[in-house]
Amino acid sequence: MKSMNSPGAASPSAGQIIRQRRSLQACDGRTSIPAERFYRMLARVMPRVELPVARRPAPWDAIPWEPAIHFGLFVHRVDGIEPGLYALARDPGKVAKLRECMHAHYAWEAPEGCPANLPLYLLERGDARELATQLSCRQEIAGEGAFSLGMIAEYQARVGEPERARPWFYRRLFWEAGAIGQVLYLEAEAAGVRSTGIGCFFDDPVHDVFGFKDLAFQSVYHFTVGGAVDDPRLTTLPAYGRRVKARQGGMDLR
Ligand SMILES: Cc1cc2nc3c(=O)[nH]c(=O)nc-3n(C[C@H](O)[C@H](O)[C@H](O)COP(=O)(O)O)c2cc1C
Repeated sequence: MKSMNSPGAASPSAGQIIRQRRSLQACDGRTSIPAERFYRMLARVMPRVELPVARRPAPWDAIPWEPAIHFGLFVHRVDGIEPGLYALARDPGKVAKLRECMHAHYAWEAPEGCPANLPLYLLERGDARELATQLSCRQEIAGEGAFSLGMIAEYQARVGEPERARPWFYRRLFWEAGAIGQVLYLEAEAAGVRSTGIGCFFDDPVHDVFGFKDLAFQSVYHFTVGGAVDDPRLTTLPAYGRRVKARQGGMDLR
């Protein structure tokens, strides 16, 4: 198994990472990431609800509602972490609600070495590669990476309470999911691996896997992170290259 980028390696600038980021088209099925990197990626998607919104780390200071999205994870190749199903509560106060709504037999064990302030729990040990692939419309990228995840939204309480329906919050769930995806794209690139948003997944089977039986939680977006296989048929041009060239040549192509 190939392992990428120890956390101590010199890090490139944010600008470089933002410009070079691309979605992976296929995973190599062997690259792993160290547990420290995995924890660091997950720490970056935590809005830190203990802080007032304006003092939360970017981009969470730009999202003026309390986090509504949590993760159901499929861990395949993270060195030092047992493969299996995991849950991450992006608001520690929601662990109990998630636990109440998921399968009763889940373990809810803190993985070894997990930072105390990261509400990540092992639900069930095992090889989840085939399961993750099946759930994401049989896309191999979900099972061949280091890990993939379903973004599980608090649905009923935010959108559909009968006495106070807020259909407009539905759109916010996707804004929040999109922001999480952007963070994961950049964190994966910075870790020397790549990632891809997965919009095609089977939501009812996802709910069955984790044990959700009603509309309390709803899977809204999936994501995968892993070692990328380059597709030589695709051409990647420098990000913003046309603008730079235009400025140099006196043309304005914006
Ligand atoms: C919301 C969203 C859903 C996506 N769903 C899938 C998917 O189901 N399968 C897949 O292979 N790629 C998926 N992608 C990745 C896109 O194909 C990719 O972002 C697009 O080709 C642009 O490539 P780039 O990110 O390298 O610029 C998704 C991307 C986004 C933002």
